[in-house]
Amino acid sequence: MNHRVPHENLIMAFTGMHRMRNIARSLLGRQGFPTPLGNVTPEPHRSAENEERRKIWETVQPYTMVPEPAIDFLIDQVITLLTSRVSGVLVECGVWRGGSSMAMLLAQQAAFGRVERPVYMLDSFQGLPPVTAKDGPLASKWQQGADPENFLDNCRAVREEVDHALARMGFVPGDYTIVEGWFDQTVPRLAEDISPNSIALLRLDGDWYDSTRCCLDTLMPLVSEGGVVIIDDYYAWDGCARAVHDYLSSHDVAYRIRSLPQWYGAYFIKKAARDRFDVL
Ligand SMILES: C[S@@+](CC[C@H](N)C(=O)[O-])C[C@H]1O[C@@H](n2cnc3c(N)ncnc32)[C@H](O)[C@@H]1O
Repeated sequence: MNHRVPHENLIMAFTGMHRMRNIARSLLGRQGFPTPLGNVTPEPHRSAENEERRKIWETVQPYTMVPEPAIDFLIDQVITLLTSRVSGVLVECGVWRGGSSMAMLLAQQAAFGRVERPVYMLDSFQGLPPVTAKDGPLASKWQQGADPENFLDNCRAVREEVDHALARMGFVPGDYTIVEGWFDQTVPRLAEDISPNSIALLRLDGDWYDSTRCCLDTLMPLVSEGGVVIIDDYYAWDGCARAVHDYLSSHDVAYRIRSLPQWYGAYFIKKAARDRFDVL
């Protein structure tokens, strides 16, 4: 869940940084984001990409609470991972109305003319589970209805509406698989189903500690070396940040936590060890 904007005084501080980043990006082309391979030289199809990006955003906006810069980042990652042949499927845990997963499908279609890697879409379709103490006081207040405008029926979505929207966009089962149920039940089954194949991109958007931790514990072993893990709620909720820190420290790995543009989430690249000085 990323519909909350940063605190006002942070916005003022970030506006300057954002402007600088935009200037840098317009000078460098779309090379602003570190990728598993460092700064990848733009492919020829990228000049036509801005128009495609805008179309993708307009298509998915009604189905997502994720803001445009984070969708833009997701599109970049999908195209880069596939272009650089990082193996595996694409997985989103916590799809709500499906907009982010739809962006992963549309990005493939726009860049490669077809869906090359299926997208697995996991959700309870019953909204968020109850918060626990690890999720922190803000999450607890939110779930008690302190922010009615953004409560969105506790993030409940209707699965049939997701199916219909995907069909209207022209996607067929096989392009995507919807996995309905609570993560503690569905994620271990998914891991069995897709193993020994791997995951190229894992997008976690389940908000709470338990939801995030369960996905990391079970799915991280399947993420390819060089694969990308996006954690939508890292800045939004204490429990999500805790889950990421607990997972990384308990597995003694050195993945760097990186921020999405405008702090709309975080991500890391699965890489056993830093092996070059010239690539971040
Ligand atoms: C913030 S919404 C996801 C937003 C979505 N990715 C988008 O593009 O707008 C969080 C979703 O995670 C799901 N969720 C959270 N914890 C879950 C769990 N333990 N099992 C299944 N679904 C869960 C909720 O049902 C909800 O639809």
